[in-house]
Amino acid sequence: DLQNQIKEFEDLFTVDCTKLKQIVDHFVHELEKGLSVEGGNIKLTLQPMNVTWVFSFPTGNEKGTYLALDMGGTNLRVCEIVLGEEKGGFDITQSKYRLPEELKTGTAEGLWGYLADCLQQFIEYHHENEECLSNLPLGFTFSYPATQEYIDHGVLQRWTKGFDIDGVEGRDVVAPFEEVLVKGGLPIKIAALVNDTTGTLIASAYTDPEIRIGCIFGTGVNAAYMEDAGSIPKIAHLKLPPDTPVAINCEYGAFDNEHVVLPRTPYDLIIDRDSPRPGQQTFEKMTAGLYLGEIFRLALIDIVDHKPGLIFEGQDVSKLRKPFSLDTSFLSAIEEDPYENLLETRELFETTLDIMTTQPELEMCRRLAELIGTRAARLSACGVAAICKKKNIESCHVGADGSVFNKYPHFKARGAQALREILDWADHEVDKVDILRAEDGSGVGAALIAALTLKRVKEGN
Ligand code: BG6
Ligand code: GLC
Repeated sequence: DLQNQIKEFEDLFTVDCTKLKQIVDHFVHELEKGLSVEGGNIKLTLQPMNVTWVFSFPTGNEKGTYLALDMGGTNLRVCEIVLGEEKGGFDITQSKYRLPEELKTGTAEGLWGYLADCLQQFIEYHHENEECLSNLPLGFTFSYPATQEYIDHGVLQRWTKGFDIDGVEGRDVVAPFEEVLVKGGLPIKIAALVNDTTGTLIASAYTDPEIRIGCIFGTGVNAAYMEDAGSIPKIAHLKLPPDTPVAINCEYGAFDNEHVVLPRTPYDLIIDRDSPRPGQQTFEKMTAGLYLGEIFRLALIDIVDHKPGLIFEGQDVSKLRKPFSLDTSFLSAIEEDPYENLLETRELFETTLDIMTTQPELEMCRRLAELIGTRAARLSACGVAAICKKKNIESCHVGADGSVFNKYPHFKARGAQALREILDWADHEVDKVDILRAEDGSGVGAALIAALTLKRVKEGN
């Protein structure tokens, strides 16, 4: 019966403290491997620990006006950012555009053209004097793994988060985008290509000196932190002083691509198999917003197909059969249903899926949503804990952004609980590693990184 089914799901999705610790230990090992010469040479599938060419935290004295183009998981933002009217302060003017779904699997020209159009629109809308805005340096937040030989360059290693556009992987993304800008009459110079995690790290550190890590818990998952050059064997040839801070984009959505430690369920395997890049982003596929609704859907379909009559008996489940028909907000809504009889969940099933539910079915769905959301939060904590362990950080602030962190119910509390378990804090202790919301992270971060870069160039470093 459904009670047994709930028990089965509990066994499948629960990650206990012992397992969390095992995951963190393996995680630390992978972080180190990615920094090593050997790890630096392993192509594609492993966690790359990308060197970002950001060599300092901001001082708070950065100044100037910048453009930022922020291509996130779901949205595109164009911002004009004025830094430093007062120490650590900024002013931001921004427009948000939706990233049309079809662009994600379209052509490179289509993507760059759309980004250029949004920039153009922003510039026209916000300034009569176009000339002046298009002279500003642009920080481009491109939230995909890129190999950078310098900061205004980046070869896309592979698409993630469901993107699949031919002819971009393995090539520099800056030059072709600048070309499209020039052709469109917008000769804007991209001063820095930035990952969203690096942007979040730098922007959060601008206003909070205790920040050591920048994290995204959104459509994808990832983090960036400052490593000492001396601990990055793969860049020994740069001969940087060993204590030079170097921001590393971990790209840890790719953690455990070798399938050593993560407790994958049959649903995780299906998601991977049917994704545009099987074998990649193993950790991300279990924790990120793009996938949580799909995990839930696959679990329900599994019951419908393998335990006839147990749920939704005699009903048309064709809508439920459509891949990715439920997004993470569906789970959020179930978890947030305030009614004991789960009235809102019942309505949600009716309106979204044309499925009428019974009370026991609703209760099972609520528990399943809780289990999937809790697993995501607990696994997410492992990435943060691993960086802290690797760096011997006992206490710090972590700047976080992304739709799951900002919107998914109980995500923060569940993550914090997992951190307490992993790092063996007593329940009454204040959280020593505190994950805090980064406001407007990536845009401001990209502007700051552009400022830091231009300063470095000016000083001849
Ligand atoms: C936004 C940042 O707030 O969050 C982006 O500005 C980032 O740079 C995004 O990529 C991540 O969240 P999501 O949920 O859109 O993937
Ligand atoms: C994916 C991307 C990574 C990004 C993360 C969060 O994991 O590969 O670059 O930081 O999503 O947006």
